[in-house]
Amino acid sequence: MFILPELPYGYDALAPTMSADTLRFHHDKHHKAYVEKTNKLAGEAGLEGRALEDVVREARRRSDAALFNNAAQAWNHAFFWTCMTPQRARPSGALAQAIDQAFGALEAFKTAFVQEGAGHFGSGWVWLVTGSDGLKVVATHDADDILVREGLFPLLVCDLWEHAYYLDYKNDRPGFLNRWFDNIANWAFAERQLAAANGQGQGFRYPSEAEPEGRRSPDIGESRPTA
Ligand code: FE2
Repeated sequence: MFILPELPYGYDALAPTMSADTLRFHHDKHHKAYVEKTNKLAGEAGLEGRALEDVVREARRRSDAALFNNAAQAWNHAFFWTCMTPQRARPSGALAQAIDQAFGALEAFKTAFVQEGAGHFGSGWVWLVTGSDGLKVVATHDADDILVREGLFPLLVCDLWEHAYYLDYKNDRPGFLNRWFDNIANWAFAERQLAAANGQGQGFRYPSEAEPEGRRSPDIGESRPTA
């Protein structure tokens, strides 16, 4: 059984960039529904007890669209909660260097990220990923995610589904992406993901029921899953 991970901050912690109403509906309704459907469908598919990352990849391998869509959305949302923080910051360290190398400067990266997200048709996700040729921005449609993209490792994601921004921004997706990037993107987490991609430490994994209380939230701080 997959759990619905608690948000790593309060419902009002990301306001006014993302309101408590948006977070409450997004987490308590949308994400919860994806987790519940995944539990039902993964059980029916004989995949109980497997890590969510394995379920996502196996559902894609079997072309099981219903299971893939729900399992990938469960994973994407847990990853997304971790990609936000109330502590406004800027990329630093190895992440800042990699951004400069790939895009030339932070502002050019922001332009690429916002344009990719704003120009994406319909629902989906805009990602910062790393691969053999360095960092790049990619968008995926609907539930599709980076777990099933060979050679790519996710560093950061922003949700492009209307439920992520419509209460706060109506149809102004570029305005949402601009403010999200400047105010609540979790660059410290992206930097840890980059380190993990380079073999230093554990990358994000969907929290499991077996983890002790207090460790169920996605990894946002010093305590990181080791198994
Ligand atoms: Fe969402």
